[in-house]
Amino acid sequence: MTFQNTREFAKQLDAQDALNHYQEQFIFPKVNDKRVIYFTGNSLGLQPKRTKAYIDEVMNDWAELAVEGHFYAEKPWWDYQERFAEPLSKIVGALPSEVTVMNTLTVNLHLLMVSFYKPTKTRYKIICEEKAFPSDQYMFQSQVHFHGLKPEDAIVEIKRREGEHNIRLEDVLAKIEEVGEELALVLIGGVNYYTGQVFDIRTITAAGQKAGAKVGWDLAHAAGNIKLELHDWNVDFAAWCSYKYMNSGPGNASGCFVHQKHHHNSDLPRFAGWWGHNKERRFKMEPTFDPVHGADGWQISNLPVLSLAPYLASVEMFAEVGMDALIAKRDHITSYLEFILHEIDQEVKGSFEIITPSNPAERASQLSVFLHGEGRSLFDFLMKNGVITDWREPNVIRLAPVPLYCSYEDMYDFGQILKKGILEK
Ligand SMILES: Cc1ncc(COP(=O)(O)O)c(C=O)c1O
Repeated sequence: MTFQNTREFAKQLDAQDALNHYQEQFIFPKVNDKRVIYFTGNSLGLQPKRTKAYIDEVMNDWAELAVEGHFYAEKPWWDYQERFAEPLSKIVGALPSEVTVMNTLTVNLHLLMVSFYKPTKTRYKIICEEKAFPSDQYMFQSQVHFHGLKPEDAIVEIKRREGEHNIRLEDVLAKIEEVGEELALVLIGGVNYYTGQVFDIRTITAAGQKAGAKVGWDLAHAAGNIKLELHDWNVDFAAWCSYKYMNSGPGNASGCFVHQKHHHNSDLPRFAGWWGHNKERRFKMEPTFDPVHGADGWQISNLPVLSLAPYLASVEMFAEVGMDALIAKRDHITSYLEFILHEIDQEVKGSFEIITPSNPAERASQLSVFLHGEGRSLFDFLMKNGVITDWREPNVIRLAPVPLYCSYEDMYDFGQILKKGILEK
């Protein structure tokens, strides 16, 4: 399709967009009395209007039933997480028994590393990407310390080549081969938080496992954003947060995936708690832990139902929309945004560059833009003019045209505001 940088054309695209009406289902902040153009759904998704009713339901059940709500609430609390199994497994390409929701992302990655990072004298190295999200870096360092190892010896980063913004698949595979028999774990962000680069999860997982390692993924920027087939890709484990593309609210619960092949492995170490214990016998208060055979076997504490409620609202919305429809719009609107950016860049003579891969297979709902010159004032200008983006040092703004609530007209309007901001500088 040949795009045009005009309001009429953007409106036409909106009129043809089957997901356009979902915008109405979200609450947008306002700046200057106008709803904002929201590009930070990769950081914190907007609040769906239906979410409040899910929370109110729990509040009402709590008021009316108190402790009895555990078993007699409309959605009983004691196994509330089981409502996620069907819809969430479809979002990440898993069997229902392979997913669960609990805790928060870094906590879950730590817990999964307890099970899947078991260093020996000879096989103890972790491969991750250079400049992984800081929480992952701290996690790796603390995990290797915990095992009495030195980070500089045990953590191997895959580097970007000089002058390049993204990591090449061939370099990931070469590093896995190089580390070879010393490799215990590969753990990478499925979508890089800074550049928006999407990694080839299937190929990297197969290569890591061929080298004899376990392979896990931090899917913070991938869940609800890219097509995942975690079961078929034979991923060992994964975890994601739900407050970005999945719109579940600030700091909210995390989702976890543990491949079926590990469900009956009683040799796997884990940090256990009563909510991971055999469901039928949980309240018999037995002394010996007997894990549920499935991702639920990694549960520890009883469920934070008030935070799961908004996540459930979101997961049910995703089930309604379907990942295929979401991804089709994602690719189209991201390409339109890319087109608008190129148009504006020509008009203002090279003030910025997009550092996200231009190949649609290697990106999803994010374009990261490196601003030449003094970028911070342009970022502030955008914010003051109702364009919510986020700023990453040294000079990057990240733009996520989230398909559920961004419109093509938003992209056009953004282009005009960006041009004005650059010209006024
Ligand atoms: C890629 C990635 N990993 C990990 C985290 C940390 O998430 P949490 O604070 O929920 O543990 C984030 C948070 O934004 C992230 O983007």
